[in-house]
Amino acid sequence: MVTISPTRTKRRFFGRIGFQISAVFLLLISLSFYITDIRLTDFVRDYLYQQRIRQDSLSLEKLAVTVAPLFQSVQSDRLDETLVSSAGEMGGRLMVLDTDGKVQFDSYAELMGLRLELPEVVSILTGSRTASYGIHTLGAIPGEDAGSRIAYGAVQIVGTEKPLGVLLYASGVNEMLKSLRDVERQLELVFIIVAAIALLAAVFFSNLITRPVNELSDTIQQMGKGDLSVRAKVKGTGEMRALAENYNMMAEQLESLDKSRNQFVSNASHELKTPLTTMKILLENVLYQPDMPVEMREEFLSDMNHEIDRLTNVVGDLLSLTQMDSRKMTVNMAWFDLSDTVANTLHLLRPQADKRAQELAAKITPGIMMYGDQAKLEQVVYNLTENALKYTFDGGRIVVSLQSKGKQAFLSVQDNGIGIPDQDIAHIFDRFYRVDKARSRETGGTGLGLSIVRQLVTMHGGEISVTSTPGKGSTFTVRLPLGEKGGAPA
Ligand SMILES: Nc1ncnc2c1ncn2[C@@H]1O[C@H](COP(=O)(O)OP(=O)(O)O)[C@@H](O)[C@H]1O
Ligand SMILES: [Mg+2]
Repeated sequence: MVTISPTRTKRRFFGRIGFQISAVFLLLISLSFYITDIRLTDFVRDYLYQQRIRQDSLSLEKLAVTVAPLFQSVQSDRLDETLVSSAGEMGGRLMVLDTDGKVQFDSYAELMGLRLELPEVVSILTGSRTASYGIHTLGAIPGEDAGSRIAYGAVQIVGTEKPLGVLLYASGVNEMLKSLRDVERQLELVFIIVAAIALLAAVFFSNLITRPVNELSDTIQQMGKGDLSVRAKVKGTGEMRALAENYNMMAEQLESLDKSRNQFVSNASHELKTPLTTMKILLENVLYQPDMPVEMREEFLSDMNHEIDRLTNVVGDLLSLTQMDSRKMTVNMAWFDLSDTVANTLHLLRPQADKRAQELAAKITPGIMMYGDQAKLEQVVYNLTENALKYTFDGGRIVVSLQSKGKQAFLSVQDNGIGIPDQDIAHIFDRFYRVDKARSRETGGTGLGLSIVRQLVTMHGGEISVTSTPGKGSTFTVRLPLGEKGGAPA
């Protein structure tokens, strides 16, 4: 046994679309934050750094001027005193280096005699600059806590005629870095909050989109399994609503198509079964009564022949109808004389009228040319006139007229026959519909004639209408567009 595994998609809270939307949201937000973060911290760092340099350089350059004479005249005590007190005021460490880069004075009194090869110092000693600032990771000067950061400011000490050395100021920048880290931490917090909000929004919006899509997909799946009565829920606005509405419209059409097809098949089967049943009874009679009188046998056989004609009619009508349905019918469009066509068709039916002493009158305007399928319009005239003859008493009168008005032709078939009751008029163009089944059957009708007529008329862009009074007679009127004069045959 073959099992068809249902591919029903499980309703997930977070579908594919939801995931994609959230991912895109997050990516965009992260990217913009990353860029802002880098730019902002750079900006803050630069700002704090510049501020610090401005502060330090002012006091440092002033101090260098004070220190120069003391250093030149080797007043060690006063120099020491000045440096220590200034260092205390500035909150850092002050050193004086000679032109070799050796420490001569240190407010911490630790590094005397040591040569410091800091880039700031070197740049002054080589004469390329008179002041230099930089921030370093500690470790350059022995005894510093390795790892923490420090700012160096170096200015030239100038004596009366030549440079005497370098005034070096070292101070921790941990405060500054801490405020920078605070800014970064705040940014991270904002990022987390915004990302969380964005994620929630993504979930919300994607649900808004995916839920109706999932619902519709489930509905389609159910329909695919054969339940044509299911409909999608129409809600919301915009595209999703239009989608559901269009889908429902399609489902409606499919369902009604399915219903009418079933109806048609069941009617057609019934229509075929009746003559078959009759024929079987007739056949069995002949078969099981070998000593049946010859006249009776002939009557049975003639009845069977009649039933075969009926069957042939039904099958023929069914074939034309299904061909029209599937649009596979071949049409031979051409200009032809409609007046002649109507007259010739009436000619075919005249013997039938004569047999029942019916008058078949024709009022045909000659020379009406039409662009269409001649054989199919012949059938229209034939079916309508045949009906008029069939549903009119012996000795009745049938008038077929044809006129043209502007670019249209009007064909009318009028009889003074039995007429059609009001409640049936709306249905006579339906397939297999007959007002009086027994009567139609007797006359070999299939109940398909008028529905074929209507399809053929519609196919030519025309219209058919009927007026009828029971007991008085009926008039069928067909309006047909003649087609453009000189219009090219298809
Ligand atoms: N001219 C008419 N007068 C009265 N009844 C008519 C006329 N034409 C059609 N009808 C009714 O409409 C029904 C449908 O017509 P039709 O489709 O041609 O089927 P059929 O002729 O095979 O019965 C007929 O059975 C008949 O009851
Ligand atoms: Mg008929």
